[in-house]
Amino acid sequence: MTTPWWRSSVGYEVYLRSFADGDGDGVGDLRGLRDRLDHLAWLGVDVAWVTPFYPSPMRDHGYDVADYCDVEPVFGTLADVDAVVARCHELGMRLVIDLVPNHTSSDHRWFQEARSSRDNAFRDYYIWRDPADDGGPPNNWVSNFGGPAWTLDERTGQYWLHLFLPEQPDLNWENPSVADEFDAILRFWLDRGVDGFRIDVAHALVKHPDLPDNPPAEAGSRWALMDEAAALERLYDVDQPGVLDIYRRWRKVVEPYAGLLLGEVYLLDIDRLAAYVRDQDGLHLSFWFKPLYVQWDPAAIRDVLAHAAAAAPDGLAWVQSSHDRSRAVTRFGGGERGRARALVFATLLMGLPGVPFVYQGEELGLEDGRVPVELAQDPVALRGGPTAKSRDGCRTPMLWEPGEGYGFGSTTPWLPFGDRSDADTVAVQRDDPDSMVHRYRALVRLRRERTDLHDAPLEWLHEEGPVVAYRRGGTLVAANCGEQRHSAPLPAGTWEAAFCTDRQSEGRSHVRELALAPTEAMILVAAETTARRG
Ligand code: GLC
Repeated sequence: MTTPWWRSSVGYEVYLRSFADGDGDGVGDLRGLRDRLDHLAWLGVDVAWVTPFYPSPMRDHGYDVADYCDVEPVFGTLADVDAVVARCHELGMRLVIDLVPNHTSSDHRWFQEARSSRDNAFRDYYIWRDPADDGGPPNNWVSNFGGPAWTLDERTGQYWLHLFLPEQPDLNWENPSVADEFDAILRFWLDRGVDGFRIDVAHALVKHPDLPDNPPAEAGSRWALMDEAAALERLYDVDQPGVLDIYRRWRKVVEPYAGLLLGEVYLLDIDRLAAYVRDQDGLHLSFWFKPLYVQWDPAAIRDVLAHAAAAAPDGLAWVQSSHDRSRAVTRFGGGERGRARALVFATLLMGLPGVPFVYQGEELGLEDGRVPVELAQDPVALRGGPTAKSRDGCRTPMLWEPGEGYGFGSTTPWLPFGDRSDADTVAVQRDDPDSMVHRYRALVRLRRERTDLHDAPLEWLHEEGPVVAYRRGGTLVAANCGEQRHSAPLPAGTWEAAFCTDRQSEGRSHVRELALAPTEAMILVAAETTARRG
């Protein structure tokens, strides 16, 4: 078997609406993306994942798809997708697009047909049930966005299931026609040249056939965006037997194209998640989201990385930020401290087996943008009110250069920039060799050049203490996640600092022990001992 192309890759998440506005309507689009792909190439990333661009009423900003084989005019046209694919390939990058197979938009033709009558040919594309005896919903499941997971269709007298908004009806994956439709959708995009798919809500496509009530959760699940969703143990609506069969089937579709299947398996239990990638017959990779919940504590950080890397070797995509959760800099305390911690965390992720992903703006050290309540856009914020965990703050527009519009576009953007300064922009940071964007670039380059980081076995070095460290062959990654300066023993030999969070420390050699300042990380490479002898 040949090594898959993603084995040595670094990924980059493009949140399309906020990346670059090419046509001046305030919303990021495909043309804007194409023109800014140079930034990704300069950074050295290998694969761009772009969030949904399909026709959509935008109730959930594109994760409510009305047609899987076309493009929403606000984002461009099919020709613009082709141009993005071509430009990516020209720059030596791959393009992964977002596939949303758990639900459609209620505007999708399938759902319009389905709700027109109980015996419509498309009825069974969705999950319908009669009301409970009291006329209420068929079970106690709740939507991830708040409220019941069921909405009554007055005309046909049955409820439809939606794990997200009522306008995002869940597809019925027990129906073979649904599976056939998606085979064709995958092929449609593969034939246009895309290199793979990020699969939205990949853990939820199959539901328990009896739809039993979910029991109350003991401690509440922390990933729920709404408190109601956290109150139930998600026993029967997610992670059901059979879901992997869908990916086994897709695997056969994508393999002739060397296409990547990258799942958004939002399970915080690594042993459950590992099943999706372990046998390498379903998904190739899955995101692992627990790092987005970790406190700044060395033991917790070591655990969330080491345990996962062991449970799903080579099968994980590593992230510390995304378009669904507060940015790492903000979560780690904000300001300079948050920024320093996020860079240390990025250093730790960059050496692990699997594929590290950078979320747009992370390379600039951005914290969440401030979005006043009256400008809220996220359905979670709109439905949940001021206490909801709004996703707007991590979705504010990208900052390209100083000046009005920050190079994002020529008009007021759909979300405010959120109290930024010129120092936050790509252009200003590119002029400063000590900036965050240069630190990320150095990290990405090292990841690419050190083949140890693609294939050498992973060995964790210290079981306790403030320094979290691991070795992969002749490459060693070490981070002081404590509040004090700390020295940790090094394996035999001379180790040279090839990357340091503090650039001034790069190039120094270390023998026997490594002294690290608080919140400092390094990647060290074993010095060639033979060279000196000769
Ligand atoms: C995923 C997406 C999120 C979206 C949800 C529903 O979690 O990342 O943005 O709201 O699925 O499709």
